[in-house]
Amino acid sequence: MAIHSNGYQSGFGNEFATEAIPGTLPVGRNSPQRVAHGLYAEQLTGTAFTAPRHANRRSWLYRIRPAVLHGRFEPFSQPAFHNDFGQGPVTPEQLRWSPLPLPQAPADFIDGLFTMGGNGGPAAGTGVAIHLYAANRDMQDRFFYDADGELLIVPQLGRLHIETELGVLDVEPQEIAVIPRGVRFRVALPDGSARGYVCENFGALLRLPDLGPIGSNGLANPRDFLAPNAAFEDVEGNFELIAKFQGHLWRAPIDHSPLDVVGWHGNYTPYKYDLRRFNTIGSISFDHPDPSIFLVLHSPSDTPGTSNMDFVIFPPRILAMRDTFRPPWFHRNVASEFMGLVHGVYDAKADGFVPGGCSLHNCMTGHGPDAATFEKASAADTSKPDYIEDTMAFMFETRAVIRPTAQALAAAHRQHDYPTCWAGLRKHFQP
Ligand SMILES: [Fe+2]
Repeated sequence: MAIHSNGYQSGFGNEFATEAIPGTLPVGRNSPQRVAHGLYAEQLTGTAFTAPRHANRRSWLYRIRPAVLHGRFEPFSQPAFHNDFGQGPVTPEQLRWSPLPLPQAPADFIDGLFTMGGNGGPAAGTGVAIHLYAANRDMQDRFFYDADGELLIVPQLGRLHIETELGVLDVEPQEIAVIPRGVRFRVALPDGSARGYVCENFGALLRLPDLGPIGSNGLANPRDFLAPNAAFEDVEGNFELIAKFQGHLWRAPIDHSPLDVVGWHGNYTPYKYDLRRFNTIGSISFDHPDPSIFLVLHSPSDTPGTSNMDFVIFPPRILAMRDTFRPPWFHRNVASEFMGLVHGVYDAKADGFVPGGCSLHNCMTGHGPDAATFEKASAADTSKPDYIEDTMAFMFETRAVIRPTAQALAAAHRQHDYPTCWAGLRKHFQP
């Protein structure tokens, strides 16, 4: 049982139209008295009906059966996947973890989710949850949807074949996928196993940032975002539909595949993006710009200029600034930073931060280059450029403090000695 990709349409948030069988989409209307081919029409909204036009997202689906057809929901348990960020004190310490080990027992994408932390929640409609995943088998006879937020998936190891109601996304490490709130999907693992990161966004939908003085091009260009063409299956059997609703999981039996949308049109869609297409911009004189220059997508908050969540990447780039400390500087930020590494080496850490690992530096927690990186960069020749190649780090950066989960703090893959990476920073002061 598999649905093959039917290709993609390009552009961020475009008004797409796609049909897997010609003549499926109604012309000039959304809800005709009878839909072609005996299909049902169903609207799926991702924003309020009356959201401003530039922010309004919805799609019309033309499907074999409407989404209402499934059995009764019962509570479902996957105890490592949740939105319980605790109530007690949060340590201000610098935190880092090694990669989540691949599972020993069979585990699909849902079984393999492990919640690291978060803030806000689905009831408040703001904040994020940050999860890791490590899986070794396809979702079998199982479909999932998240009513609590959209899912930004950042693969680190292994490709994902994501079959959604609106079509198929094939993604590999250094690409990302976004699955909208509510869209049902199934994940297969073409390489047999997979590992990566997920940001579950409870707030406003991810969008491209304004570019200000950068101009009309640069950073992530809209045409590089790909939405799937319609692809469907007409399959009956004994399946289950797993729902995430208000921080908890539910399970309902379903006697057919919900991936039965023959055609759709609209702008509320899954999409993918290749991070290697990011047009990286930086200083060509001295100093660094703030890392906001590396912003791919963000979820705005109610306060202008202050995001609920920023998705930032640190891609390959050329550092040519003269008489400048070229790695990231020491800093304390009002925002809270969860970092991951998809590929290669991150230029602020000599070792310990490896692909698949992650770190958390919360509001006002001091951090920056480790001692080895500081010494090397302080002595480097800045008359010649540095070529930072073979790297792809990223950050989920949030306005609210990211509360690590109890299981993240207790995890075997936590690096309890992480703060010692700065212990070698010597006093150089000469009055
Ligand atoms: Fe930072």
